Amino acid sequence: MAQQYDVVAICGSLRKGSYNRMILNTLPELAPDGMTIREAPPFGAFPLYDADLRETGGLPDTVTALGGAIGAADAVIIITPEYNYSVPGGLKNAIDWVSRLPNQPFANKPLALQSASVGMLGGARAQYHMRQTMVFLEALVFNRPEVLVSVAKSKVDEARGVVTDEPTREVIKAQLAAFAQFIDRVGKAPSAA
Ligand code: FNR
Repeated sequence: MAQQYDVVAICGSLRKGSYNRMILNTLPELAPDGMTIREAPPFGAFPLYDADLRETGGLPDTVTALGGAIGAADAVIIITPEYNYSVPGGLKNAIDWVSRLPNQPFANKPLALQSASVGMLGGARAQYHMRQTMVFLEALVFNRPEVLVSVAKSKVDEARGVVTDEPTREVIKAQLAAFAQFIDRVGKAPSAA
């Protein structure tokens, strides 16, 4: 029987017309056989991380839901814009919250990165900052091929909310196929849920 991969995808942008979300929307049709990709529970309503909140109020349910989904998945894909040469604050805040869960769910988790930007570099700087964060969290970050979607507006069908540019679809497809092999190689992470 073919391997099964249960992958959770996190979009770093909160806006409705997000190009990064359009990539996320397109992933299932580009995934290799056996790979199921579903969107992670949302982080838009997370409070700003405050250790006092955590100690007095416990962890918000929204944080536990995201952490549980990451922990239960075989692997994670983060698709994010670049804000001011780095990771968007909302996404970083979500990762900071989740990182304080008792079974830190990114540990030993295969993780792939994708980014889209209206600029020429396709969010590269955000991806490399994300890699740095993931060192501390001990995620197993996949290397290449990289998915960096530059001038994103020209590569999507905004009405349908999907990626239509054929070379972009090909590189995403190639990354997902290689990511499946990577998951096989590094082993499925034990569930932290
Ligand atoms: C941006 N944008 C941007 N783009 C880029 O390539 N490098 C950058 O450093 C930034 N910085 C930045 C900061 C802030 C606060 C915003 C709102 C935007 C532009 C960004 O690529 C563009 O808005 C994308 O469309 C955002 O992704 P979504 O929301 O379409 O997924």
